[in-house]
Amino acid sequence: MFAVIPAALRLLISTLLWIDSPPIESPLPELQFRLRHLHGVSNNSRTIFVDLPQSYSDFTENYTVRTHNIRSYSPPSFSAFSDARRMSRIYGQSTLLAWDGIETRAPNSTHRNTLLTLAKMTSNAYYEPVDKEWYDIGTDWNSTFSYGWEPDSDGFRGHVFVSTDKSTVVVSIKGTSVPILGGGPTMKKDKLNDNLLFSCCCARVGPTWSTVCGCYQGGNKCNLPCVEKALIEDSLFYSVGINLYNNITYMYPDADIWVIGHSLGGSLASLVGVTFGAPVVAFEAPAEMMAAQRLHLPSPPSTHHITHVFNNADPIPMGVCNGVISTCANAGFAMESRCHLGKIMRYDAVGKLGWRVGVQNHPISTVIENLLSEDWEKAGEKIGALGRETPELVEEDSDCPTQECLTWTFGDFRNNTLLQEP
Ligand SMILES: *[C@@H]1O[C@H](CO)[C@@H](O)[C@H](O)[C@H]1NC(C)=O
Ligand SMILES: *[C@@H]1O[C@H](CO)[C@@H](O)[C@H](O)[C@H]1NC(C)=O
Ligand SMILES: *[C@@H]1O[C@H](CO)[C@@H](O)[C@H](O)[C@H]1NC(C)=O
Ligand SMILES: *[C@@H]1O[C@H](CO)[C@@H](O)[C@H](O)[C@H]1NC(C)=O
Ligand SMILES: *[C@@H]1O[C@H](CO)[C@@H](O)[C@H](O)[C@H]1NC(C)=O
Ligand SMILES: *[C@@H]1O[C@H](CO)[C@@H](O)[C@H](O)[C@H]1NC(C)=O
Repeated sequence: MFAVIPAALRLLISTLLWIDSPPIESPLPELQFRLRHLHGVSNNSRTIFVDLPQSYSDFTENYTVRTHNIRSYSPPSFSAFSDARRMSRIYGQSTLLAWDGIETRAPNSTHRNTLLTLAKMTSNAYYEPVDKEWYDIGTDWNSTFSYGWEPDSDGFRGHVFVSTDKSTVVVSIKGTSVPILGGGPTMKKDKLNDNLLFSCCCARVGPTWSTVCGCYQGGNKCNLPCVEKALIEDSLFYSVGINLYNNITYMYPDADIWVIGHSLGGSLASLVGVTFGAPVVAFEAPAEMMAAQRLHLPSPPSTHHITHVFNNADPIPMGVCNGVISTCANAGFAMESRCHLGKIMRYDAVGKLGWRVGVQNHPISTVIENLLSEDWEKAGEKIGALGRETPELVEEDSDCPTQECLTWTFGDFRNNTLLQEP
């Protein structure tokens, strides 16, 4: 219809429209981040921090990230969230939480350079602090104590970036130290966590496997309450993430917090993000929906503030690194979960780049150097195609959960004789 209106009239109409409508929103500003602290876990499982000396930060990069506004949901309070979790876990009751829907600033993850910057921020290749004076936010937060960079008792560490306007803090969490990918001192703890969180039944892959919890009940039976109990009691993973987040809000009470991570760190980022409504970008992370359910995390009205970026030639996020002869199994891992929280951006590296499926496609360096170094689709590559900087952000298939751990029967088989592993 518009096309037949004479040009002069059209100009008049658009002028009137322009007067009546609010000014066009200017693009939201970019944020510039700089590395400010490193976080780790002390040998009594407390979150500890070390500041980056001023002299150091002069040499570090500025990380520029483009933002947009999204809606995210946070629980009315952390104690309400914890109560709801307890009701679900102990009594099997679901509680209606009064989720607080808020407009919040988040990274624009379909902007390739933003994604590339975030991927670099999750990368482990950083300077170690010179003086190693760590502090504990818990009891005596201004006291410092000497602590080695490589806490050998636990696997969690990463970086804290703060925007130059102090409005936003990005917490990055390091990924799994998989032996086939180099290993490292945090490997043992990572492996226990991975096998509890991402395997169907305590990493009972085959008869020769020693399991990480005693919940296997013979045949294809798995005692689900037992698995949940093991997850809650033995895996520090989630509680360490919660402490980390709480400590960051204590240090930066007025800032928005984003959580990013690679691999196991990405799954943790997501579980923290779904708890607090914090925007999340996770790279090549094993699927954590099953873990969220087993941990009885109340689910918000939407999890779209969580973005999972991975390629389909990486068997770890795809949940296909399992079975007795897989690389993961050879390394002692059982990565069997398949469904992610939030939205996914899946690079078709198998179809489009001809990659062979294998753990060599898992490292963050692969993401940085081979997936995000140029636009995913160039304009005109396909007839009429506009070109996309990244693959589309989509929902995972809604029947995904029905495809997970298909060979297992889960239940509470308390009356059966518990068949322990040899
Ligand atoms: C910081 O984390 C520790 C656990 O590492 C926790 O005990 C403490 O309460 C937290 N402090 C704040 C202010 O959140
Ligand atoms: C980072 O940004 C600050 C403030 O905008 C500027 O002073 C500094 O030179 C920048 N550093 C680098 C390495 O670009
Ligand atoms: C996010 O980035 C994409 C790709 O650059 C761009 O097309 C889109 O307009 C951006 N969205 C916002 C809200 O800035
Ligand atoms: C920590 O701060 C308190 C109060 O500001 C002060 O009394 C105490 O001496 C400080 N402790 C250390 C180890 O600096
Ligand atoms: C680890 O804990 C032990 C005792 O629990 C303590 O003696 C030791 O100093 C701690 N090590 C570090 C690096 O904090
Ligand atoms: C075990 O089964 C018996 C009969 O089938 C039943 O009476 C008993 O209550 C069951 N025990 C438990 C702990 O479920």
